[in-house]
Amino acid sequence: MVRVYFRFANVKEESHETARRGPLKPLLTSPQKSRKLVPSHRSEKQEIQHPLKKRLVLESHTAGQTKKLGKLIGQLLKPGSLVALSGELGSGKTEFIRGLARGLGVDKSYYVSSPSFVLINEYPGRIPLYHLDLYRLSQYRDFEEIGLEDYLNSNGVTTIEWAEKATRFLPSELMWIDIRWVGPKSRHITLRATGRHNVQVLEIIRKKLEGEKSPGK
Ligand SMILES: Nc1ncnc2c1ncn2[C@@H]1O[C@H](COP(=O)(O)OP(=O)(O)OP(=O)(O)O)[C@@H](O)[C@H]1O
Ligand SMILES: [Mg+2]
Repeated sequence: MVRVYFRFANVKEESHETARRGPLKPLLTSPQKSRKLVPSHRSEKQEIQHPLKKRLVLESHTAGQTKKLGKLIGQLLKPGSLVALSGELGSGKTEFIRGLARGLGVDKSYYVSSPSFVLINEYPGRIPLYHLDLYRLSQYRDFEEIGLEDYLNSNGVTTIEWAEKATRFLPSELMWIDIRWVGPKSRHITLRATGRHNVQVLEIIRKKLEGEKSPGK
């Protein structure tokens, strides 16, 4: 079994707007000797204050880890879930969705790529995957024409790259994944969940990653 190791990244909370315009962030923590996960106290506090809102910050060290994270989440999502992704070009949104597709049971023969020209790709699976990419979206009216509600009311899971372009059209219950480039292979991944099921998913992921043992331990 391929094991992946994440650690919580010590980054400050910031709005999507700030994050999108801000410079690439250097690592704020020195690399830990052990890559075993350590609970984020900030996230624990939030959990107490907002039982249906949760946040988890991780550092991924390879594209494979980002995919593995997507797969773990895909295995837990239910039909009708929405996963919104933000982060600059090449940050790893599609890599994450590739993993998510595997978690939803999309066959390996389907190569998941950004639907840049068709706006939306659909993949059959145990739970179908709808993959939108709003990078080229210029008009809000364009987004209204997509008919997001139909996808959210379907039996599939919907993912949206460049979701920050359509924030005002998104439902309140979603999983928001923000990916920041911090090095050629290093990414800070902030996961925010709203809604009972999404919060449960994040809690399961946190516990699962905490349970992963560090290499050599
Ligand atoms: N830790 C990592 N997580 C994700 N991708 C990584 C990581 N390290 C290296 N990479 C590489 O970064 C690139 C991410 O590309 P990807 O297409 O997923 O980005 P994207 O956010 O979807 O970009 P775009 O906005 O252009 O669609 C890939 O080439 C991947 O191999
Ligand atoms: Mg992409």
